[in-house]
Amino acid sequence: MTAVGIDAIEIRTGKLQLDLPNTFAPRKGEDPEKYTKGLGLETSSFPDVYEDIVTMGANAAKRLLDRKGIEPDEIGRIDVATESAFDHSKPVSTYIAGCLEQVYDGDFRHANKGERKFACVSGTQAIDDAYNWIRAGRNRGRAALVIATDTALYERGDPGEATQGAGAVAMLVTEDPSIVELSTDQGYGSMDETDFLKPNQQFPSVDGKRSMQVYLARMREALEDYESVAGAVEPDTVAYAPFHTPFPGMVRKAGLFAYRHITRNTPVEDELADAIGRQPREADYESREAYEEAISEYMDALKGTDRYQGWYADTIEPTLELSRVVGNWYTGSVHLARASALRHAVERGLDEEFVGERLLVGSYGSGAQAEIHSETVQPGWREEIEALDVDEQLASRYDLSFEEYTQVHEVHDYDKSVDVEAFTAPDGEFVFTGWGRMNERT
Ligand code: CAA
Repeated sequence: MTAVGIDAIEIRTGKLQLDLPNTFAPRKGEDPEKYTKGLGLETSSFPDVYEDIVTMGANAAKRLLDRKGIEPDEIGRIDVATESAFDHSKPVSTYIAGCLEQVYDGDFRHANKGERKFACVSGTQAIDDAYNWIRAGRNRGRAALVIATDTALYERGDPGEATQGAGAVAMLVTEDPSIVELSTDQGYGSMDETDFLKPNQQFPSVDGKRSMQVYLARMREALEDYESVAGAVEPDTVAYAPFHTPFPGMVRKAGLFAYRHITRNTPVEDELADAIGRQPREADYESREAYEEAISEYMDALKGTDRYQGWYADTIEPTLELSRVVGNWYTGSVHLARASALRHAVERGLDEEFVGERLLVGSYGSGAQAEIHSETVQPGWREEIEALDVDEQLASRYDLSFEEYTQVHEVHDYDKSVDVEAFTAPDGEFVFTGWGRMNERT
């Protein structure tokens, strides 16, 4: 069977940054270490006044098509995953295709365009759709362009304000992919939940603490479901485990829960049970109190073992590098985590010996659904990852003062739509030029 998977990726960050420990925390009267140590965040990305989900997505896609030398007639579908859509009818992919058609000779009339919604997991769902479309043989040799793009803003004063971010990840899904092959091994955990909602409102209503419990509960179910197809996961068979990263502190918890899950009924559990004098009871992930009651002593002991710390340092920590400096990108977040992991592999000097290694990818969307699937690294991975220009983009972000941050927040609040001067100058890119005459190219 021909391999199908991710052939190329491009990352586009918002062009502004907010320094959380040095600019945000002092004005909130909070300890900077709540951000750096607790949440695991340094800076968040924000869109400048001429950027939005369309421009960030289109700019990422343009660089991807140019770099790969791909013409519009080689793309058979364009799917956008977002939870920041401003149009209840016309999918964001049509706006992005409209941008791209301004700069290419060809057009995307032949391409199926859609918008995927299920909070942050929809980026992965759009990848799954593309995979299924190719596997079904309906792609006629064409590739799928999948774009995960979000402006993750919360109400001013909401606890979620600490975890904001903005950016897009564009991905090309093809046969014989260069980066990773997607596996048919997949598991889900899904349940009607009200942890994070945006019913006809721009900024979310979030029960932050509840959302963290729901994340862990659905992720555990997805792992169980995955194991029912793929068999038990042995920790050492996973090179990296990129998880949805609303903030790195969440993945610190998810990593520990995942490790506990995959080492249950193994000698690891028996060794620890001896150390703490009892077997862990089955954890109830739905409520913090029930969880604490059942298993926290065991988890604290597990967290302290060299074995777990080594696994976390090798498998999870490297996936958090980009998230730490850009914040939450909602649909793009797990795809940034994968990119961080692969960049880490480049830094380690890996090349051909990394081909064939397994990534265990954990996606999550509030509302709520988790998906676990595995991916296998392909021979062209290193060249593709080395082509990313994300370091340059991050280094050139404009550093906002707190007052400037409050203005930027209002600019991107559809209810207010205030007029503020841009902080950076657009340079050969798609820009937002106002409602009704959107997205021109400078
Ligand atoms: N030094 C070190 N650590 C500190 C500290 C200090 N001075 N002060 C606080 N901390 C630690 C806390 O102990 C806590 O860590 P633990 O959870 O490990 O105990 C961490 O920093 C955060 O502190 P608080 O819990 O006090 O923070 P908070 O109450 O202000 O809010 C939040 C945290 C609930 C996550 C909030 O930011 C929020 O609502 N975020 C949006 C929702 C979200 O991201 N949920 C994640 C799961 S849902 C999802 O994944 C979908 C999605 O993308 C939204």
